[in-house]
This record gives sequence, C-alpha cells and structure tokens, in this order.
Amino acid sequence: MTDVFDPDLPTVPDHDIVRVEPDAPTAAGRDDVSMETIVELCKRRGIVFPSSEIYGGLRGAWDYGPLGVALKDNVKASWKRAMIQLRDDIVGLDASILMHPRVWEASGHVEGFTDPLVECRNCNHRFRADHLAPVDGELPPCPNCGARDWSESKAFNLMFKTFVGPTEDTSDQVWLRPETAQAMFVDFATVQLASRSKVPFGIAQVGRSFRNEITPRNFIFRVREFEQMEMEFFVRPGTDEAWHEYWIASRWNWYRGLGMRAENLRIRDHAKDELSHYAKATVDVEYRFPFAWSELEGVANRTDFDLRSHSEASGRDLSYFDAEREERYLPYVIEPAAGVDRTALAFLCDAYREEEAVSAAGKTERRVVLALSHALAPVKVAVLPLSRNDKLTPTAREVSALLKPRYATQYDDAGSIGKRYRRQDEVGTPYCVTVDFETVEADRAVTVRDRDSMTQERVAIDRLPGYLEEHLQLG
Ligand code: GAP
Repeated sequence: MTDVFDPDLPTVPDHDIVRVEPDAPTAAGRDDVSMETIVELCKRRGIVFPSSEIYGGLRGAWDYGPLGVALKDNVKASWKRAMIQLRDDIVGLDASILMHPRVWEASGHVEGFTDPLVECRNCNHRFRADHLAPVDGELPPCPNCGARDWSESKAFNLMFKTFVGPTEDTSDQVWLRPETAQAMFVDFATVQLASRSKVPFGIAQVGRSFRNEITPRNFIFRVREFEQMEMEFFVRPGTDEAWHEYWIASRWNWYRGLGMRAENLRIRDHAKDELSHYAKATVDVEYRFPFAWSELEGVANRTDFDLRSHSEASGRDLSYFDAEREERYLPYVIEPAAGVDRTALAFLCDAYREEEAVSAAGKTERRVVLALSHALAPVKVAVLPLSRNDKLTPTAREVSALLKPRYATQYDDAGSIGKRYRRQDEVGTPYCVTVDFETVEADRAVTVRDRDSMTQERVAIDRLPGYLEEHLQLG
C-alpha cells in the first residue's frame, strides 16, 4: 500500500486471519463430528435430504426441507445484510439464469470451463482425473472396480446445455449459468448509471448456478445445482491489491461474526498454476470439513478481464469515466464468491456438539445441540405447553401468536417436555418458552430456557417480547 492518502484505498478491517501457503496440508484431522452424523441429522430433522428419493434419488441433487429452507434463507439474509444493507457502496441484482450464449463465449467458459475426465474401460465409471491421488506418478486403480485400464484424459465442459423455443437447433442453444458473476459484468454500465454509483462500488447477487460436476460428492458440498452469493467490486486499477486484502479480511470477519470457530477457518493463497484464466491473485477461504480442509469461498482479483472481454465481444464500451480524476478506465474487479450450500454445511458442522446433560428427572443423558448463531438458527423460539392439556393450550397458543409476527416461532406440544427440549436443541433453537399450570393459575409468566447454558428464567408474558429482543442477537 502507498503511504500517500488516496480516498479510493480502503482501510483493511481488523481480523484474526490464519493464512496458509498454497500447498498447506488438507487433512482435516477432526473427530468431533463426521459427515455421516450431519447427513443423518439433516435427513431425520428434514433439513436436507436426497432429491426425488422415492425414485432412488438423483446424484448431486438435494432438497432442503422446512428447517433447511430457513437455514439457507438466514445465510443469504446475513450475507445480503452485510454486503448491501449495511453499506453505501454495494447494490443488488437478480439477473436471469438464461443469458445470451455469447456471454459464455466472451467469458471463456465455452472454451475453458472444463475438468479433466477419465473413464475406466473396465466398468465405464467416470472420474475427475485431478481427484484421483496418483500412485508412483500414475493414476491409481479404479476406485469402483480396481482395474487399471484408464481412457485418455478428456476436457469435459461443466456447463449444462439446454434449448430455448420449440426446436433443438444449435442456434437455439443456451447454457444454464455456471456462476452468477457474468450478469454483474454484462449489466455493469446499466446498474452503474441507474444507481449513480461511483467507483469503487460493487454489485451483489444471490442465485442458482448449475455445473455438470463429474463427481458430485460430500453431501451438499459439491452438487450440480446450487446457490451462489457473489459480489463484484469495481475499483480503479492500481488500487486492486489493497481492495483484495480488504475483501479477504471482510469475508473472514463475516464468518467469524456468525460464530464460525477460528480453528476451523483459514485463508489459503492460490499457487500461480492454480489461478483461473481471469485472475491475477486468488485466495480460498477454507473450512475444516470433516472430510478435508476445502474451499468455502474464493476471493479473486479478476483484473479488468471480464469488462474488457465483454466490451470487445459485444461492441459496447464498458469503461468508466472517473469525473473526479478526469480519467476513463476499465475498472478492475475484486470478487468474493461464496456458495450458500457449502456455507450452510460448514455452519452445520461447526455448530454440532454432543454433550452430557442432566434431564428434568435428574438422569444424565447425551444431548445433541446445534450451537448455531441466533441469526442463522432456523427457529428462534419454541413455545412448549408443559403437556397437551385443555387448560394450557389457549395460553400457549396466545404466547405463540404474540411471538410469531416477531420471530420464527415453532409450537410443539407432542411428547414429554424433555424430549421436546432435545428436539429443539438438535436444530439449534436458541430459546424454549414453557407454559405451565402456574402460568394459567397464578402468575401469567413463562419459563424461558436458554439452549446453550440450559438455565431457565421466569418471565412475565407481557415482558416476553422485550426479553427476547434483549437476548436474541440477530444483527
Ligand atoms: N464467479 C467465481 C466462481 O464461481 P468458484 O470458486 O467456481 O468461483 C464460487 O465458485 C463458490 O461457489 C465456491 O467457493 C463454492 O462455495 C460454490 N460452488 C462452486 N461449485 C459448487 C458446487 N458444484 N457445489 C456447491 N457449491 C459450489
């Protein structure tokens, strides 16, 4: 960074980043949670489960059930809040998934968005060559059948092809977008003009992307249809490196601010030969998933590659006139690009705890608790009548109706109170509100139980919204 004051240069926020070399070991070495445990919990509690399961499922496709929808919505809302709502320099966009096919020629995707594919000639299973750990410099035996009879490696384009209109002619062929980013470049001039934004500024978008992954795996980590949260931040050339550092720190702080544990998070610089065709420098924000340290988000310095390519290919000048400096240039782009599904998975793994707890009957039991941050928890408060009883139900319903307009509230009167507490712990509900006989016969107060400490407090119903307002940390 230069020591001459420049208003276009950012101050990098404070952070506690752990930064590692490109070749840092990837072994996860954690035994506090396994993928099987997370997959089982997600299925059992209707968070995420296989798509079209009654037909045997479809590889690389997953459905989010009621609590999964809420978790994903909360991830996206937290991202949009940090990226757009709390800032003056980033605006939103929701672009079409189908774009003009020339977009993907100019972006380099038609030519280069490929993975190396090898096929086992014995069992016809296909694999990504770069996912097969070499043995003595050669491909290992086929993980499916053990044979060592590989085809030549072929470049396989990951974009899904489809057709617009009634004919399946090459002139009608379009692609399902493999990233949301390109719309932010193609729409750059329109958005900049309409929002009267001045460089440095960003355009942010959350939306579906599709990749025909050769080997989808690790649950919702690598899938064929997923959601991305991408932001393209346009800066003056020469200020790009400082802005890159700024966004690396900001993104790190976002994960940490939502409670992700520092020991499970790291920033890994890309080696030169790992960089995408458009990037001058990239880091991955990596999470220590149970299977390995793996990419959660990429933060890339894309230079002016995209605006230049689209200017040249479309004939539309996408340069920017900087009125203060009286100069015209093609902005450079810093891109933090995250995946909603991966982020949700990382937070699920990070929040999972198994603990010993003393039950209402005084017995020591195992409890599973998702210590999700309040902002991410699918349900914020559960209303639990002590038992399903005609005396308790009207007041419990009244309490539920009081809270529902304010918070995601779940009413549950099925089973013993202990079991219901466990059910809420397992999905990360921060507070359980219990309505008992004293509530209706004596004090019009309820018991509020804290998920993490399991302490209980008696709170008057009238005071309950204020109490939750004070205790729920949603910002
Ligand atoms: N515009 C840049 C871009 O798309 P990327 O690293 O290919 O960069 C960004 O993707 C993020 O999207 C990844 O860090 C990951 O979180 C998510 N992502 C990419 N492919 C995915 C897949 N097959 N399944 C789930 N998430 C994926």
